[in-house]
Amino acid sequence: MREFYGSLILRLALFSLYPSLSFADSMASLVFHGNCSMCHMDKKSLSAPSITDIKAHYKVAFAKKEDFIRQMSIFALHPKAELSIMHYAIEKYGLMPELGYEIEVLREISEYIYETDFKKREK
Ligand code: HEC
Repeated sequence: MREFYGSLILRLALFSLYPSLSFADSMASLVFHGNCSMCHMDKKSLSAPSITDIKAHYKVAFAKKEDFIRQMSIFALHPKAELSIMHYAIEKYGLMPELGYEIEVLREISEYIYETDFKKREK
């Protein structure tokens, strides 16, 4: 319950900070920063590759936005070596665990990753 209120307060705070964001954008940003970013930091690769690094690989492999979103969300739904384009990362950090998000949520997050310049942020 505390978590629920926590996420509600965070969401309201996000809305007041960025009133122009759509609900899907702020939901994706919330999930990304509440979960994905625990392992994927903006620029540093410690327990997993940084999101800047992952994004660079996906942009090269999938030039079209739609392919980028599709492949990234399919991987995050059920991570498997056959779907990976970063095999060295699996060897170095181990395969990413399955997180249990629905494909629609993962698609929103992948789009958020596509649109966000993580290099410009502070952390
Ligand atoms: C518990 C840690 C952890 C969390 C949380 C996590 N990841 Fe990962 N992720 C990893 C590790 C470790 C790798 C590198 C190994 C691999 O590619 O499987 C990785 C790799 C990836 C890759 C590259 C896949 C490839 O190999 O081509 C993508 C894309 C990705 N994560 C997306 C996400 C998204 C989106 C989220 C949030 C919904 C997320 N991750 C949350 C640990 C995590």
